[in-house]
Amino acid sequence: MTTVGIIGLGYVGLPLAVSFAEQGCDVVAIDLDARKVQALQSGESYIEDVPSERLRAVAERIGASNRYENLARAEAVLVCVPTPLTVNREPELGPLLDSARGLARVLQAGQLVVLESTTYPGTTRERIAPLLEESGLAAGRDFHLAFSPERVDPGRTDYTLRNTPKVLGGLTEGCADQAQALYEIVCEEIVRVSSPEAAELCKLLENIFRSVNIALVNELAMLTDRMGIDVWEVVEAAATKPYGFMSFAPGPGMGGHCLPVDPFYLSWRAREFDMTTEFIELAGKINQQMPYHCVAKVQSALNDAGRAVKGARIAVFGVSYKPGVGDTRESPALKIVDLLRGLGAELSYHDPHVPALADLGLRSSTFDDALADADLALIVTAHPSVDHEQIARRARLVVDLRGVTRGSGVADVVRL
Ligand SMILES: NC(=O)c1ccc[n+]([C@@H]2O[C@H](COP(=O)([O-])OP(=O)(O)OC[C@H]3O[C@@H](n4cnc5c(N)ncnc54)[C@H](O)[C@@H]3O)[C@@H](O)[C@H]2O)c1
Repeated sequence: MTTVGIIGLGYVGLPLAVSFAEQGCDVVAIDLDARKVQALQSGESYIEDVPSERLRAVAERIGASNRYENLARAEAVLVCVPTPLTVNREPELGPLLDSARGLARVLQAGQLVVLESTTYPGTTRERIAPLLEESGLAAGRDFHLAFSPERVDPGRTDYTLRNTPKVLGGLTEGCADQAQALYEIVCEEIVRVSSPEAAELCKLLENIFRSVNIALVNELAMLTDRMGIDVWEVVEAAATKPYGFMSFAPGPGMGGHCLPVDPFYLSWRAREFDMTTEFIELAGKINQQMPYHCVAKVQSALNDAGRAVKGARIAVFGVSYKPGVGDTRESPALKIVDLLRGLGAELSYHDPHVPALADLGLRSSTFDDALADADLALIVTAHPSVDHEQIARRARLVVDLRGVTRGSGVADVVRL
C-alpha cells in the first residue's frame, strides 16, 4: 500500500492524513509544532472535523514527528503548511519555502510532491521546483511535482474530501498522472487542469468569488440600513429566482484563514504584470469596514436606549469566524470586541466552541450568565447550538449581525 507523507498537520493536513490512513495507507506526518505531534502520538485530535475516535481508529498507521528524514520512505508527499500574509499584507512564503528546503534534503527519485497550500500562480514551478531540485533531482523527470488545492470547508458534513471534486495540475502529464492515481485513493472525482498555475489560480478564483460577493451584499447592507429596508428580506426574495442569482449573506466581515488572506496573494502577483486587481481591493476594503459599521450599529442602539457605550456591559454571542467551529483566526468578532473596548464598554462573551480568548483575557460565560449580566446582547456568529430566539426574548437590548432573530417575533431587535 502507498506510503503518504504530509507536511503540516493543521485544518488541511490532518483530515488528509486520516483519510489516507482510513484507506489503508501508511502516513508519515510531519509538523514542527511539538504539541500537535504529541497530540497525534497520543491519539488526541485538535481539529473539530476529525473526532479523536476517528483518529484513534487509524492511529497505528499515522507516524507523527518533526523528522523530515522520515519522508524518504514515502511514495508521495503533500505539503499543507500555512501561507499567511506579512504585516504589510504581502505573501509570507517562509513556511512553504522552509518545508521545501527540508524536503529537498531527503527527496528520493520517483517520489511525487504535491503542494496543497493556497498560493499565487507560479509558486509551484518558480519557487518550489528550484528548491526541490537542490537535491540534484530534476522536477518532471526524476521526481513528480503537482499543485492540488485543498477545498475543505471546516464544519461542513455534506461535502467532504471524498465527494468534493479534486482539482490538480501537474508540471508534466506524467506528474498529473501520478497525482491523479494518488488522489483517487481518497477522492471520487479528479478534475485535471493543464498546469500547476491553472490549479493555483482556480483556488484563488473560488475564494475571490466569495469575497467579492460577500462584499457586494455587505455594501448593500450598509445602504439598506440608511434606507430603512431589511437586507435579509431582500436577499431572501432575490434567492427565489431559479437562475442567474446566487445568495450570499451579509455579516460583520470576513474571517478565517482563507478569505481575508488568499485574494491578496493574487493582487500581489498581479502587480508584476502591471495590473491592479480592483475587485479584490474593493472587496477587501468593504469587508474590512464591516466591523466598524457593526460597532456604529451598537453605538446607535445604545444611544436610542439613552445609554453610552462607555460603561455598557455588552455580551457577544459567537466569537469564532463561522458557525459550528471554534476557529477564531481573523474573526471579525475580535475586531468588534477590540473596538467596543476602546470605546469603554465592558465585554463578555458566550461561545460553546471557544472556551477562552486568551489574548483578550476573556473566558466564555454560560449562556444564562452572559444574558443576565448584559445591557446589550450582540450576536456576531450564529452557532446552530445557540438559541437566538431566546436571546431576542430575554436580552434588554439585542443587535443581531446575522439575521437569525428574524423569526422571533420580537420587534425591537436591531439588525444589520
Ligand atoms: N483552513 C482551511 O479551511 C483551508 C482550506 C483550504 C486551503 N487552506 C490552505 O491550506 C494551507 C494550510 O492551512 P491550514 O488551515 O491547514 O493551516 P494550519 O495553520 O491549521 O496548519 C498548518 C500546519 O503546518 C505546520 N507547519 C508550519 N511550518 C511548517 C514546516 N516548515 N514544516 C512542517 N510543518 C509546518 C504548522 O505547525 C501547522 O500545524 C494554507 O495555505 C491555507 O490557505 C486552508
